Amino acid sequence: MPKIQFLIFLTLSFELLKFINPYIMKIILDELTRAGSIDWQKLLWLVVVMFLVGVFGSAYYRWIDIKRFNFLLNLDRYLPNILHQKLLSLSLGYHEKENTGNKIVKIRRGVDRLGKLLDNATWDFFPTAFQTIFTFIFILIIDWPLGLVFGASIPAYLLVTWRMNKIVGPWRDDSQRNYEKSAGIMGQSMINIHTVQSFAQERYEAKTHKNVLDTIFNLENKIWSKILNYNFTRNTILDVGRFLTLGFAVYQTARGVITAGSLVLFFTLSERVYSSVFRLSRIYDTIMDSAPAIKRLDSLMRTETDIKISGAPARHKVLGKIEFQNVSFAYIGEKRVLESVDFTINPGEFVALVGPSGAGKTTIVKLLYRHFDVTGGKILIDGMDLKKLDMRYYRKQLGIVTQDIDIFNDTISANIAYAKPDSKFEDIVRVAKVANAHDFIIKMKNGYDTMVGERGVKLSGGQKQRIGIARAILPNPKILVFDEATSSLDSESELMIQKSLLEIAKNRTIIVIAHRLSTIRRADTIFVFENGKLVERGTHKELTTNDGLYSRLHSLQVAGEVR
Ligand SMILES: Nc1ncnc2c1ncn2[C@@H]1O[C@H](COP(=O)(O)OP(=O)(O)OP(=O)(O)O)[C@@H](O)[C@H]1O
Ligand SMILES: [Mg+2]
Repeated sequence: MPKIQFLIFLTLSFELLKFINPYIMKIILDELTRAGSIDWQKLLWLVVVMFLVGVFGSAYYRWIDIKRFNFLLNLDRYLPNILHQKLLSLSLGYHEKENTGNKIVKIRRGVDRLGKLLDNATWDFFPTAFQTIFTFIFILIIDWPLGLVFGASIPAYLLVTWRMNKIVGPWRDDSQRNYEKSAGIMGQSMINIHTVQSFAQERYEAKTHKNVLDTIFNLENKIWSKILNYNFTRNTILDVGRFLTLGFAVYQTARGVITAGSLVLFFTLSERVYSSVFRLSRIYDTIMDSAPAIKRLDSLMRTETDIKISGAPARHKVLGKIEFQNVSFAYIGEKRVLESVDFTINPGEFVALVGPSGAGKTTIVKLLYRHFDVTGGKILIDGMDLKKLDMRYYRKQLGIVTQDIDIFNDTISANIAYAKPDSKFEDIVRVAKVANAHDFIIKMKNGYDTMVGERGVKLSGGQKQRIGIARAILPNPKILVFDEATSSLDSESELMIQKSLLEIAKNRTIIVIAHRLSTIRRADTIFVFENGKLVERGTHKELTTNDGLYSRLHSLQVAGEVR
């Protein structure tokens, strides 16, 4: 991939080349208007050189163009990928803050605008800027008073351009933010389409979107009206400058200060510069127009993940001991959801977390995965501080069935093998059987090759959960977490999974979160949470004989079942 500096250098050399022919033209004219006999041979040679320069110029330009294309195409290839990786590396905390549509538009528009900017810069801005500067120097050499008159109008022109962009800058920032917002609204309504249609809120969604689009329209309108107004001023400045310099040049020729050839050369060059300056300001406008999108992209690139590893990351083979030491936690900018939580889980133990909704059970798991860092206290894995572990290496040894199963728009077998894409088919079938999913899978039209649709729309809640369970146990994790993993299943399927669970529970630590207490009856230890505090612990037997929260929850459920 060619470097941008190299491209600029090539452009610069090409712009210098463009001065040769007008200069030869001047020599020819001076020769023709000179007193005395004309040297025809010299003229012939000059014409030949002009021709050769022209041909060489075209070939050279073609070569530069190839380099530029190459550069821009490569940009489209690498940049979105780099940004995607960046997004994937940011913590869950970041992603929970930002809407999906926003993020996608930020990348799309940013890449688009950056491409346009570099496109403009390499094709237009630098060539034109070089040309203007060189021409100015050239004219100064021909006749410096003329050069000064010529140069006088340009600063005024640039000042007006700068001022205009300063005025519209904040409007452009605002417009970019609204573009992101518009994509956010659209994305959101697509993700929640089921609810939108069920509650017949299509018009409301479209209206909300339209309001944002109207805002963008008004902003862009304001921006472009301002620019068009300023364009009038800018053109007038150029026209006045042009009139003065050309008049002065004719005057200098009449006085005999410069030759007729120089006058023609000056006309050619100065016209070129005037149109260049005009173009330059146009390019500057579009560059400034791209600036907000690029700034947002840049700030995304500079965002650092808030989950950092202290010291050299340790690649630790997990045995399965988990200690929470006096852990407290609050989501960023929120009130505390966990307070002084203290517990130890030994390798190979089967523990359960229970408690009312919102008590903090899922949060415990997020901390165990280090999606968030604890606010106070410590988490130790096999006695090592979680913050010192190589995170990806560590997470690969964990398996989780989340409360809402994420399903990819792919085949069933690809979804099961997500954590280990190179798995053998028989392994996939084996875990599907453990998860009690095999039977329903083979009944589907294409069996394991059935496409499940985006977010698994073609699957029932219980089917998704069973695929989630198969996915979690496939890589043979040392710690397995089931967060409400069987809540959507009928009692019979659940019982079957529980039986196979006893089989897979060997040699690994298992944490099960469940509201249905029958699910966790056999756990070695049950931790009971209430309002972010660990209020009781013990076996099912111990806890039911206590007169605490667990026994209350238990008797409510038993009563419900009897009735
Ligand atoms: N990303 C988040 N940002 C801010 N607050 C959150 C976030 N996730 C959860 N909470 C809050 O933290 C508290 C604990 O939530 P958590 O999901 O851990 O509960 P839970 O015990 O798993 O409940 P449930 O049984 O309903 O799944 C709740 O009050 C919730 O509002
Ligand atoms: Mg939960």
